[in-house]
Amino acid sequence: MTAIADIGPVGIIGGTGLTSLSDLHIVGEEQVDTAWGAPSSSLVRGRLGQQAVIFLARHGNPHRIPPHEVNYRANLQALFNAGVRTVVGVNAVGGIHQKMGPAHVVIPDQLIDYTWGRASTFFEGELEQVTHIDFTWPYDQSARELLIRVATEAGVPFSDFGVYGATQGPRLETAAEIRRMERDGCDIVGMTGMPEAVLAAELGMRYVSLGLVVNWAAGKSDHIITMAEIEEAIEQGMSGVRLILERSMAG
Ligand code: HPA
Repeated sequence: MTAIADIGPVGIIGGTGLTSLSDLHIVGEEQVDTAWGAPSSSLVRGRLGQQAVIFLARHGNPHRIPPHEVNYRANLQALFNAGVRTVVGVNAVGGIHQKMGPAHVVIPDQLIDYTWGRASTFFEGELEQVTHIDFTWPYDQSARELLIRVATEAGVPFSDFGVYGATQGPRLETAAEIRRMERDGCDIVGMTGMPEAVLAAELGMRYVSLGLVVNWAAGKSDHIITMAEIEEAIEQGMSGVRLILERSMAG
């Protein structure tokens, strides 16, 4: 695969630091509703290179919905209804692995879910049968390989592996929680990776995550986590994320 080159539009869910895509050639914007309620933002239709893209701001635009209050089901359903079958989720994360410091990009290959109380399945209520989807590999391997190749060619500092630990938030973690997550095998920590990934899987969509490390996770540096440091890392690293997105769609 030389580019994502989906027949339908590719969905891009932008997170903290990516509420819009400046390189997107916008062709329309739709306010939609779903059986699960309204998504976080309107769907912005456009083109990145040759590829039709639909952009959705996970926290709303402007940024106002905290991670635990995002209506993930509505977001995924809205993209699905619009014809999206491949989703790239952009996630701001904290770095646990020593190679994954601020402004580093991570294309994770696994996840552990620590969230609770979120609506995390479409399969509930009046069902005709019980469904247990396979979730062995939460991220689509061919989409990962494409992002890895593009990131390598673009010279963006990144890691081609990583276990994403999804926490509930909105508070950041304690140092002990991060030590526990590290023992569990987590390399990065974020608040939005789940249930987004599993809902995409339940709808049969390909899902891949592009993580931007915006701070050292709690206890991994000699200081507490500040918004100033997060903003600085976004400023430094988001251009790499944008470059990967653009180049993976062109073709
Ligand atoms: N923890 C959880 N979520 C995050 C972090 C973090 O340190 N940084 C950005 N999102």
